[in-house]
Amino acid sequence: MDYKGEGTFDFDKPVNRINTASIKWDRRKLIFGTGDVLPMWVADMDFESPECIVDAIKKRAAHPVYGYSFMTDGYFDAFTGWVKRRHGWEINKDSVLFSPGIVTAINAAISAFSQPGDGVIVQSPVYFPFFNAIKNNNRKQLNNQLVYYGNTYKIDFDDLERKARDAKVLLLSSPHNPVSRCWTKKELEKIGDICLRNNVIIVSDEIHGDLILPGYKHTPTAMVSEDIANTTVTCMAPSKTFNVAGFFTSQIVIQNEKLRKKFEKAMESFHLVHGNIFGTVASEAGYKCGDKWLDELMIYIDNNFKLVDEFLKSELPQIKLTKPEATFLAWLDFSGTGLKGKALNEKIIKEAGLGLSPGIIFGKGGENFMRMNLGTQRYRVEKALAGLKKAFG
Ligand SMILES: Cc1ncc(COP(=O)(O)O)c(C=O)c1O
Repeated sequence: MDYKGEGTFDFDKPVNRINTASIKWDRRKLIFGTGDVLPMWVADMDFESPECIVDAIKKRAAHPVYGYSFMTDGYFDAFTGWVKRRHGWEINKDSVLFSPGIVTAINAAISAFSQPGDGVIVQSPVYFPFFNAIKNNNRKQLNNQLVYYGNTYKIDFDDLERKARDAKVLLLSSPHNPVSRCWTKKELEKIGDICLRNNVIIVSDEIHGDLILPGYKHTPTAMVSEDIANTTVTCMAPSKTFNVAGFFTSQIVIQNEKLRKKFEKAMESFHLVHGNIFGTVASEAGYKCGDKWLDELMIYIDNNFKLVDEFLKSELPQIKLTKPEATFLAWLDFSGTGLKGKALNEKIIKEAGLGLSPGIIFGKGGENFMRMNLGTQRYRVEKALAGLKKAFG
């Protein structure tokens, strides 16, 4: 393959993450029953974070007092500057709140904007902590299952309209994990229209919003119209963007003051308002200086996707890659192998030597799929493909 556009940053550089308390690498025995798998599951990357982040952390760490701190103006300014540059979204920093994580914010939003027993919409197959957030808050899950056609997905808007009548909140994954859809402005308009007419608050989880493959464009849901902005809680973070998920630092944008106050109250009830020194420093540095690194990262990821697609088409046509538009997560359709669920996962662990995320955990529609994390060095992707060939060839 011709890997065009790569070169300034060395994403091929081998990085050993073993014994760094990495969930992906150091929890293999616990998750897969063996430490002997190439881990391509949990959604962080095996790349070093941008140098400007590492330098900023080192500089702050050199001051040996790590007392209580706050999220600085510099942090909020860097974030608002980033969303304006990257997405053309102009927001006032007063509308931005801190949350230690996006899943935390989703739970807080469900608790702030609905009551026990109320309906909350999800679109499976989807990031599974959405289901837990609904269950743990004693809400009713309403599944607007995505429609798989060809090698991609679309939304069943008639079904969404029906479900919205009985819902208070929609949990939107945008771009979508795991199916890799980068929702178009038109689709977001339709979602927004349905939610507005039915008084449904949109919690738009845009944690993957910076990870857009060449040829696609991420539209923040709240940017679609002022009315939609008024009913939307936008969740963004540097976690996936710069591979700093371990800092648990994210930004929640709520332009509607009434909603913002309600959300703040829910966060305050668990004292989740302070943030941490290193998360602040890392975010500010990344949002100020990470553009070029991210642009090249997405070319590298795109080439990883192309490598997988070409390999499967020529060597293993019974396994199909869902059309990738965003994220570093490949959604692989194994229906042509005749295997699914537990049996499929077992074969992949034992015969391919891979630790992937079984599609079944993402809910209805995920049964025949496996999610493979391509946020890793190319030699590891090549090794993974050789493993699949050994198991299914
Ligand atoms: C769609 C989505 N939302 C949220 C998260 C996790 O967010 P956090 O670690 O900030 O809770 C992930 C991580 O994989 C994700 O894919």
